[in-house]
Amino acid sequence: MMVMDAQDVMDLYNNNVVGNYTKVNLVISRARGSWVWDTQKRLYLDFFPGWAVSGIGHCHKRVVKAISNQAKQLLHVSNNYYNELQGKLAQRISLNSFGGKVFFCNSGAEANEAAFKLARAFGHPNRHEIITMEKSFHGRTLACTAATGQEVCQKGMGPMPDGFKSVPFNDKQALINAVSDKTAAIMIELIQGEGGVRVAGKEYVRFVRDFCFQKNILLIIDEVQTGMGRTGELFAYQHYGIEPDMMTLAKSLGGGMPIGAMVVQKKIAGMLKPGMHASTFGGSPIVCAAALGVFDAIEKDRLLKNTAKMGSYLRDELIRMKGRHPVIKEIRGMGLMLAVELLMNAQKAYEYCFSMGLLINCTQNNTLRIMPAMTVTKKEIDQAMEILEKAISKC
Ligand SMILES: Cc1ncc(COP(=O)(O)O)c(C=O)c1O
Repeated sequence: MMVMDAQDVMDLYNNNVVGNYTKVNLVISRARGSWVWDTQKRLYLDFFPGWAVSGIGHCHKRVVKAISNQAKQLLHVSNNYYNELQGKLAQRISLNSFGGKVFFCNSGAEANEAAFKLARAFGHPNRHEIITMEKSFHGRTLACTAATGQEVCQKGMGPMPDGFKSVPFNDKQALINAVSDKTAAIMIELIQGEGGVRVAGKEYVRFVRDFCFQKNILLIIDEVQTGMGRTGELFAYQHYGIEPDMMTLAKSLGGGMPIGAMVVQKKIAGMLKPGMHASTFGGSPIVCAAALGVFDAIEKDRLLKNTAKMGSYLRDELIRMKGRHPVIKEIRGMGLMLAVELLMNAQKAYEYCFSMGLLINCTQNNTLRIMPAMTVTKKEIDQAMEILEKAISKC
């Protein structure tokens, strides 16, 4: 196949695609595991694969095989027929979490929309309000934008849909003050990803769980970024000794295929009745096959164990680096979802890493977000740390 020149690809894109993304001048032509190649065959070590989508690494062989086999059999069926893989995937999610039922869609925002609608059906007709956290991120649909506790995401998009309010994260009293007789649900990310990898405290989360029980409010945990093993447990809530009423998933669930899921406790799953919510593409056989491939990879290749082990190795390396570089303010995160907060803007360090062939992310201006694939090796971490340290020295 003729490969286009990188500049031609960028020109073609810029002339024809809406410019709503901040672009990096990199045209990726191939990827495998923790590595991506550009059109000039230059190799990059990817420590932020697919913005948390390629959680088990790029083009994992079990996912590729599952997709290839399924593509020969059946790609899509309407959701008013049955398909075996959707049931199997729902059962796999349910057995590995809190025994709930699953609604399938195509993205994290759609999974959250489903959770909002179910919460509103639960609270109807008196309670409709959903409380979220400051610095949260829940997606880009209008309701998800309203739920997102970051003004920058809402700017120029008003008026926002009614019924959402954000309170400071990890602040019990603020939550108590915000709840009213109109509150139907509280939504929280246990690690705020876009918000700078901020971890919810154990005691706080347990308090929120009890508080929701007391007030008959639903607890929705957004595991779009933290889910599918990223933190060393399959779902982040499993570190906290609690269960949510609803959990939302997307990103790495499909191993690179677009899928979202809203998982809900069985006792309230029946609130969504035929005609109340739907998704044409949601849970099609091809994406369910990919997600089942992700589960197989995590279980058969023991990726949770690797995530916990490599996560603690990477964290220790970062903590040692902090000791050598006073510009590092804090290391935080869980498993392989880690952040290096600098005392200054982190863009320069991020750009230096890119120029040296290391892909990471810069969020909230001063934070470098590092989320390597769950298949990452010690050797890959050492390579990445060498580049990162040079980048930090330049700050
Ligand atoms: C915690 C969280 N929720 C929801 C979303 C939205 O997911 P999507 O972009 O698939 O709609 C994201 C995306 O970054 C996210 O990090």
